[in-house]
Amino acid sequence: MGYPDDTEKGEIGVINADFRGKRTGWEFPPGFVWGAATSSYQIEGSVSQDGRGRSIWDDFCDTDGAVLDGSSGLDACRHYELWRGDIELMKSLNIAAYRFSIAWPRIVPDGDGEVNESGMDFYDQLVDGLLGAGIEPFVTLYHWDLPAALEAGGGWLNRGTAEAFARYAGAVVRRLGDRVTHWMTINEPYVIANLGYVTGEHAPGRRLTQADGFDAAHHLLVGHALAMDSIREHAPDAAVGIALNFTPVTQVGTGPVDEYTAAVADAIHNRWFLEPLAGRPYPAVASNDAQWDADVVLPGDMDMIAAPLDFLGINYYTRQLVDRTGVLPAPEPTTAMAWEIHSNSLAQLLPWIDDAIGLDSYYITENGAAMPDDLIEDGAIQDHDRIAYLADHIDVVERAVSSGIGVQGYFVWSLMDNFEWSLGYEQKFGLVAVESGTYRRVPKASANWYRDMIAGMSDGESG
Ligand code: FCB
Repeated sequence: MGYPDDTEKGEIGVINADFRGKRTGWEFPPGFVWGAATSSYQIEGSVSQDGRGRSIWDDFCDTDGAVLDGSSGLDACRHYELWRGDIELMKSLNIAAYRFSIAWPRIVPDGDGEVNESGMDFYDQLVDGLLGAGIEPFVTLYHWDLPAALEAGGGWLNRGTAEAFARYAGAVVRRLGDRVTHWMTINEPYVIANLGYVTGEHAPGRRLTQADGFDAAHHLLVGHALAMDSIREHAPDAAVGIALNFTPVTQVGTGPVDEYTAAVADAIHNRWFLEPLAGRPYPAVASNDAQWDADVVLPGDMDMIAAPLDFLGINYYTRQLVDRTGVLPAPEPTTAMAWEIHSNSLAQLLPWIDDAIGLDSYYITENGAAMPDDLIEDGAIQDHDRIAYLADHIDVVERAVSSGIGVQGYFVWSLMDNFEWSLGYEQKFGLVAVESGTYRRVPKASANWYRDMIAGMSDGESG
């Protein structure tokens, strides 16, 4: 099949050999933040501890066939117990910032109503521990683990969930806002609305129409806007943003139907959230296609959603090729997720986002790769393919920063192998492996590479 010219693969093999533990020669501005990311349900375990309520992911994982390997986040990485060691681990890897999420069901077990202070204590100690280790906390308030009680009332199809979210956000920021300076309201509203309510691949597993998905998407943005207000009320000096995922669309074929299909896919994946955050309407090509009546959009909503962000979090993994038939199978090279490795799409994406929203500050809040991790030498996983992926994408970020785009930091997804949602534990994104049965953390070659790369950067800064 003839794909367009920009499918060139870059020099993955060359990077693979050259980047093994060496200085990179990259130059990032002083203060550029090197981080790693996780989320609550994917790592914490201890799902009934200290008054945590049930989340939609607990329920979803109990549904036959919902998760590929039949697993769940019941134990996950046992981070709720082992967090002190995880902070030490990050420190040993020179990680300067840690992006994690707070489990709403630990803070407000019923979703709305009474605050559970013992759930809050966990994050309070975590934040103190991080700061004590010189690691900056970047906190996401919602990374998919909705309290099950709210789903019973319609979940994100119900505007009340957005209002409850703002109350929960206020409670968290009242407690942690004296120490946490970077907040993200929601992680990947695209995934929540579309995989949760349209395809049903994720919790709550509902299979509704695309128009219903847009209702959920709108309520997610309303929740973001209300929560942002509430964060600013309690922590006026904090920086507040949202983390969006982008999957650039490459149109394959030149017919009008190819063009239309690609335009709808692009609007849903890349423009649906960005446009209103930048003060523009929802993309008409997608709302018309879905025959969305937009009756959930109340007067004043779009203005509220357009309230300026302090930063935008950008999650990037891959692109998609689309023709008249829809999304095509990804061409090689791919990761273990069968996602195409294509850093050039990130190179095109960053200026495109900057043109669309024009902020001074962006963070790459997720980037990384699931790899087979099957080569073991000297007791460590020799994941040179992951190193190549990271190096290739960091290279793109460096070029974007030197061209004047305000990317302030980069977070690898993920610190450690964890519960990869409906794919269970088979897909491994970590810099660090988690030994099954013992939960021992075992850094992979990529962890050591990242550690040395960060050290090299600060050497460069000081001399
Ligand atoms: C993103 C999610 C994150 C993780 C990575 C692989 O969509 O935000 O939790 O699953 O993908």
